[in-house]
Amino acid sequence: MSNSFKPISISLSPNTEKDDVQLAWKLLFESDLWVNGKAPEELEEVFKKKTGVKHAYAFNSGRSALMAVLDGFKFEAGSEILMQAFTCNAAVNPIIWAGLKPVYVDCNNNYNIDIEDLKKKITPKSRAVMVQHTFGQPCDLDEIVEFCREKKLFLIEDCAHSLGAAYKGKNIGTFGDASFFSFSRDKIISCVYGGMAVARNKELAERIAAFQNRAGYPDRMWIEQQLLHPVLMNRIILPSYSIFGKYLLVMFQKSRILSKAIHWQEKKGRKPDYFPRRMPNALALLCLKQLEKLERFNAHRQELAAFYYRDLADTTLSMPPKAVDGIATYLRFTVRDKDAREIINEAWRRNILIGDWYTSPIVPNDTQMDKLEYVPGSCPNAEKLARETFNLPTHINISEIEAKAVSDFIKHYDKKHN
Ligand SMILES: Cc1ncc(COP(=O)(O)O)c(C=O)c1O
Repeated sequence: MSNSFKPISISLSPNTEKDDVQLAWKLLFESDLWVNGKAPEELEEVFKKKTGVKHAYAFNSGRSALMAVLDGFKFEAGSEILMQAFTCNAAVNPIIWAGLKPVYVDCNNNYNIDIEDLKKKITPKSRAVMVQHTFGQPCDLDEIVEFCREKKLFLIEDCAHSLGAAYKGKNIGTFGDASFFSFSRDKIISCVYGGMAVARNKELAERIAAFQNRAGYPDRMWIEQQLLHPVLMNRIILPSYSIFGKYLLVMFQKSRILSKAIHWQEKKGRKPDYFPRRMPNALALLCLKQLEKLERFNAHRQELAAFYYRDLADTTLSMPPKAVDGIATYLRFTVRDKDAREIINEAWRRNILIGDWYTSPIVPNDTQMDKLEYVPGSCPNAEKLARETFNLPTHINISEIEAKAVSDFIKHYDKKHN
């Protein structure tokens, strides 16, 4: 495996298939389709049918979608939004940009919000709880919905990891007063950058629609950057990854030919100028193609998760808890070991790029915690999980043979060290 050019990777263009690359390539030469068109509206309609949500509005990211949701609630400045640590700065920044305050709640060993800690963190300024369904594992929604009802708090579902997951027979995203989804490069489906804002009631939906109108489209250079992503990644960077591809990736990102998932400004709590924006037509076309594949992608993820559960059962690793009351989508198969960092590094040396979500309570780990208002030590379990977790790939471009290579590596490491 170590000699192959193309790595086994959890995050490098994980969902992109041949037809997605062909479509992106074709769109690069049809610039009249980039900005305006009917695709975003069509995407919203298909999305509503697939998920059962009532009102849905397409944006250029989950970040923009969350900005729209928060704007729609019209909370007074300084209102507190309770959310879990063990998250990405992309889930926190829209709260700060809206003039609101994130209040961090610890997470449980399911990687989701800890309800006992949530009860302790509520104050008279609390206005909403945002739950995450981390790695596609649904939260205990019965208890959370009840808690929000009792305390008169709005519920927002962050479904960035969990499109297609369900709780007690109902799709996630349909429980909250509002929810949002992400279609960014390493999510359940991808159009490089994309998101959906969802509202349950009509008034909130109308305010989100007005926000979408005001937000306008991203500029053409930004759209071109995203269209180039599947093409360059799959035709040049990945096939040559272990010789020069990885250097090309850095070079393309530095010269802004390709985008990065997170802008450096966001690590300081600042907003890049391409948020908030509505979804441009070209990315909606890519997203529609991916949405057709949702069930197949998630079935594949579930099969690989079942394989890892079986194949790694005799190791000393802690396996992810199985969803008792629902269906998990296993965006990543997340395991725990005290030597997580060492395992990740050793795997990378063998061209197996397993994932490190999350290495700190708010990632990327060079995010300035004070700017994101996180107090070190305030969520001890999130901090512990950040030291001990790593993720195995489940996406459609990982075959059973590759999953077996990952699993064999882990078993070999485990035997040698335990
Ligand atoms: C948990 C979580 N919430 C929200 C987001 C934001 O989504 P997007 O990247 O589409 O802005 C992300 C992804 O970055 C995420 O991982």
